[in-house]
Amino acid sequence: MKIIVTGGAGFIGSNFIRYWLNKYPDDRLTNLDALTYAGNLENLREVEKNKNYKFIKGDICDENLVNDAVKGMDAIVHFAAESHVDRSIMDCRDFIRANVMGTRNLLDAAKNNGFVRFHHISTDEVFGSLGPRDKAFNERTPYDPRSPYSASKAASDHLVRAYWHTHKLPITISNCSNNYGPYQFPEKVIPLFITNLMAGKKVPVYGQGENIRDWIYVDDHNAGVDAIIKKGQIGETYCLGGNSELTNLELTKKILNLMGKGEEMIEYVADRPGHDLRYAMDFSKAANELGWRPAVSFEQGLKKTIEWYKNNNGWRQNIKSGEYLEYYKKNYLER
Ligand code: NAD
Ligand code: DAU
Repeated sequence: MKIIVTGGAGFIGSNFIRYWLNKYPDDRLTNLDALTYAGNLENLREVEKNKNYKFIKGDICDENLVNDAVKGMDAIVHFAAESHVDRSIMDCRDFIRANVMGTRNLLDAAKNNGFVRFHHISTDEVFGSLGPRDKAFNERTPYDPRSPYSASKAASDHLVRAYWHTHKLPITISNCSNNYGPYQFPEKVIPLFITNLMAGKKVPVYGQGENIRDWIYVDDHNAGVDAIIKKGQIGETYCLGGNSELTNLELTKKILNLMGKGEEMIEYVADRPGHDLRYAMDFSKAANELGWRPAVSFEQGLKKTIEWYKNNNGWRQNIKSGEYLEYYKKNYLER
């Protein structure tokens, strides 16, 4: 199979490329990535010499480049996006450009090059926010995105479905919960807290730490994408989740505990504007139809992740860290 992966130099995409080449060594993978602040070729050192792996530096909004890159492909797996909610609160122009306009460009390239199979990677955040006792999101939950990031992802999901209904482009979509694992950019809460503690810094918990996320180990997400590509029904959406709901405070205490640090390392900061209270995923459709379910327990996955960051401090130091974090904290969290 010849697959073009977009955003393969980011966190989930780079783990996907390693996963896929390991499981399907005869398949040919092309990684199309613009190398934004979040894209890092160091994430792919293990595969860069693999004869079945090729990298193209390019923007998914570039019509000619994307059209050429998609020619002859059997499938597109579309990860590329601006992915961080806090950045979208500060300025969402790049989010609309990459997530909406970039997806439109890829869809047209898929349509114009023989209706290439298109798998779109999306998020649980498009469904909005749950109350503490609400039922988990599923494939029939109405869309209710509430951050500029989730609004841009929702727009892209609608476009992908519209290309199926209108043009019969063979698409599938996965909406997944919060991922964690190796190579995640340390602006997201788990790698930020681990790397702060490694550097002797406190961890900034938004509000009172009551917000709930459902955590999934990145390889479990990618195994779900694999199952959808191989066995999913064209035109369908699949919800993927980790079955690991935790409040941010529970999560923080687990990280502190595993890293041998005390609660004096917690710094409560002002809340994220519009902070969604809770996400949870009902993945019974993927379990029943595809035989997929998450395999890594949160305890196992968190331990592996902490070990990885400790053993890869060089990676951490080489990536472009965001000065924006200080700016964001000052202007949005300390008002
Ligand atoms: P990431 O920010 O780590 O990586 C994004 C990658 O996309 C980077 O390599 C970046 O260079 C590339 N990119 C951005 N704009 C581009 C453009 N215009 N052209 C080409 N490449 C571009 O993101 P991630 O956390 O790995 O997320 C990947 C996908 O999974 C996103 O679509 C995100 O919405 C979705 N998702 C993420 C999570 C999560 O918890 N991280 C959960 C569910 C879904
Ligand atoms: O749910 C899937 C989504 O998960 C993905 O679509 C997004 O791409 C991904 O970034 C992630 O979004 P979140 O906003 O949930 O992730 P983040 O790691 O930014 O925050 C997780 C929780 O931790 C959230 O409730 C906010 C809180 N938080 C975050 C940071 C960065 C803190 O308390 N302190 C922090 O410093």
